[in-house]
Amino acid sequence: MQDERRPVAENPRPDPRLAPVRHGLTVNGRSVTVEAAPGTRLLYVLRNDLALNGPKYGCGLGQCGSCTVLVDGRALRSCAIPVRAAVGRRITTLEGLAEGGRLHPVQEAFIAENAAQCGYCLNGMIMTSVALLAAHPDPSEAEIRSGLQGNLCRCGTHVEILRAVRAAASRLREARTGSDGDDA
Ligand code: FES
Ligand code: FES
Repeated sequence: MQDERRPVAENPRPDPRLAPVRHGLTVNGRSVTVEAAPGTRLLYVLRNDLALNGPKYGCGLGQCGSCTVLVDGRALRSCAIPVRAAVGRRITTLEGLAEGGRLHPVQEAFIAENAAQCGYCLNGMIMTSVALLAAHPDPSEAEIRSGLQGNLCRCGTHVEILRAVRAAASRLREARTGSDGDDA
């Protein structure tokens, strides 16, 4: 079965002879309409039309993970998704993670652990970690490594990134326990 984190990209360049089509999207909780030629990749729409530059263009082939966004909560590679496939889905980019003016605990943990050199991979590392920790609140070391194995970091910041994900998991668990306690 194909790994959904690594979709095989079709030609990412839309056919310029095809007229743009209107697409209604929900991005970071906001409804937007964009005009894009059929086949345009979601990454281009996010960056060029919506000025959401969290997702990065790395390989453009679904291989590096730097363009990762959440689609209905799943970490997917926006360079490999045609924008039409995102219609009717909930799209979250790095810019949409913060709530109430506060960064997501995964973002805070990456900052606290200095988990960056050039930072190019960080969007993908953070978005993938958010999805990973939502599915596995108490991940084993093997689950963290396996969850992030498709995201490439050319700077070799892996040790700090792994530490940040472990710290974020622990913060999220504490927050959950605290709110459970508040509810009781
Ligand atoms: S730019 Fe999308 S996976 Fe590399
Ligand atoms: S920090 Fe540079 S690619 Fe990861």
